[in-house]
Amino acid sequence: MTDSANTYSDTVVRQFSIMTIVWGIVGMLAGVWIAAQLIWPVLNFDVPWLSYGRLRPLHTNAVIFAFGGSALFATSYYVVQRTCHQRLFLPWLASFTFWGWQLVIVLAAITLPLGLTQGKEYAELEWPIDLLIAVVWVSYAVVFFGTLGTRRVQHIYVANWFYAAFIITVAILHIVNSLAVPVTLGKSYSLYSGTVDAMVQWWYGHNAVGFFLTAGFLGIMYYFVPKQANRPIYSYRLSVVHFWALISIYMWAGPHHLHYTTLPDWAQSLGMVFSLMLLAPSWGGMINGIMTLSGAWHKLRTDPILKFMIVSLSFYGMSTFEGPMMSIRTVNALSHYTDWTIGHVHSGALGWVAMISVGAIYSLIPRIYGRERMYSTRLIDFHFWTTTIGIVLYIASMWIAGVMQGLMWRAVNDDGTLTYSFVESLEATYPFYSVRLVGGVLVLGGMFVMAYNVWKTVEMGRSIKPVPVLEPARG
Ligand code: HEM
Ligand code: HEM
Repeated sequence: MTDSANTYSDTVVRQFSIMTIVWGIVGMLAGVWIAAQLIWPVLNFDVPWLSYGRLRPLHTNAVIFAFGGSALFATSYYVVQRTCHQRLFLPWLASFTFWGWQLVIVLAAITLPLGLTQGKEYAELEWPIDLLIAVVWVSYAVVFFGTLGTRRVQHIYVANWFYAAFIITVAILHIVNSLAVPVTLGKSYSLYSGTVDAMVQWWYGHNAVGFFLTAGFLGIMYYFVPKQANRPIYSYRLSVVHFWALISIYMWAGPHHLHYTTLPDWAQSLGMVFSLMLLAPSWGGMINGIMTLSGAWHKLRTDPILKFMIVSLSFYGMSTFEGPMMSIRTVNALSHYTDWTIGHVHSGALGWVAMISVGAIYSLIPRIYGRERMYSTRLIDFHFWTTTIGIVLYIASMWIAGVMQGLMWRAVNDDGTLTYSFVESLEATYPFYSVRLVGGVLVLGGMFVMAYNVWKTVEMGRSIKPVPVLEPARG
């Protein structure tokens, strides 16, 4: 199926959608593997490339940038065309972003196991790959803003605002945090040092959460939830307030990752206060999404895609309540370094990010392949339940393990000595690691079911014609 001059540029949307599923499986497989390694360390087979320290960044890069990134590219390219009544600006450049992004991912998959890393979390890739990312990202911005700029309707739908903020901010974050002095092709040193380096890194890291893992996915939410529910967004006014409040507050919350460090106290307090404020816009967004279903709650009974979306929004609400709590310094004194953080991460990353992406891709696939619906609704329902149960097992086990670890580490005897050794806390954690592994396997299994369902849907849709660009309403 090819795009012509009067049809939407959907080839690139199809490519990114399929790769979302492929990278989802690869990234989650890496997650399951490292979860298993934490129980059975022998699973590194004494091979350096398979050691925990190298596979962990492979997991985070694969799920965030390969899986999440592909979902964001696919949906933003789809949404911007439909809401602007315009095909993509420079489709060949959009195609370049697809191949360029896949190259970045493949290079990451090769260099990370080899141990080539800048040592900055979520920004591990070395400088030549960073340059490639910058080129691809700027091209992405040209395609997206070019399409917005040549739109055939006056209004810019709110989903595009979120995508736009995500694209601009990620460019700035990536370029500033990656500034480094290259020494060889595979080694560079950060331009910043000491505490400044840490601050820049967590300004990047937190806004990677805020803009890569949140703003872009809110763009997905604002388009696909109303579409799937076949209802207008609950409050357009709330979405505008939500947008401005979210993007202006997120920027300042990064220091909550550096509590009790050499970062000045005032900066830590600033991070804490802004994190607490972040609760309001986050919940505003969640409420706006969930309330879009008012009057149509019955659809949840029959539409598992909608279930994915609404449960995802509930996880979004949970993680954005938990995050501000964890940013309070006294709470962070307990949670930091423990598996509580890992539970929080996955309630956001799996519960919110993965579930909304999966929901959006299910909703997208039949449309871009010209099918009326997915091959099997029952399989989507099955996927929904394995994912939901898997995520609950994952995060509940990590919460309990995390609070237990925090309490064990701070317990002291009357004479001031520690009550528990570190190894004792580790032994106590093993059962929870096993529960997490079961949860991870359930989530991963669901992704295979999705791949099968999508495969069957695509196979059935080969003869369908491309979609013509919608004429804007006149008058
Ligand atoms: C089958 C699903 C998954 C499993 C089994 C899994 C497992 C894991 C494990 C075992 C870790 C290391 C924890 C530690 O070092 O103690 C981890 C870290 C992480 N995972 Fe996942 N994961 C999954 C899905 C995801 C997804 C979909 C995302 C993002 C969209 C994600 C994002 C992360 C991040 C950001 C970290 C690093 C957390 C930190 O440093 O605090 N994971 N994951
Ligand atoms: C209002 C929103 C949020 C706030 C205020 C917040 C706050 C926090 C805090 C305080 C930590 C622990 C820092 C530490 O002790 O090291 C943390 C860690 C983390 N959060 Fe959130 N969080 C929020 C939402 C989210 C969401 C929605 C996601 C995912 C989609 C997410 C992903 C992460 C990740 C990946 C980490 C681990 C970073 C690392 O150490 O590697 N957060 N967050």
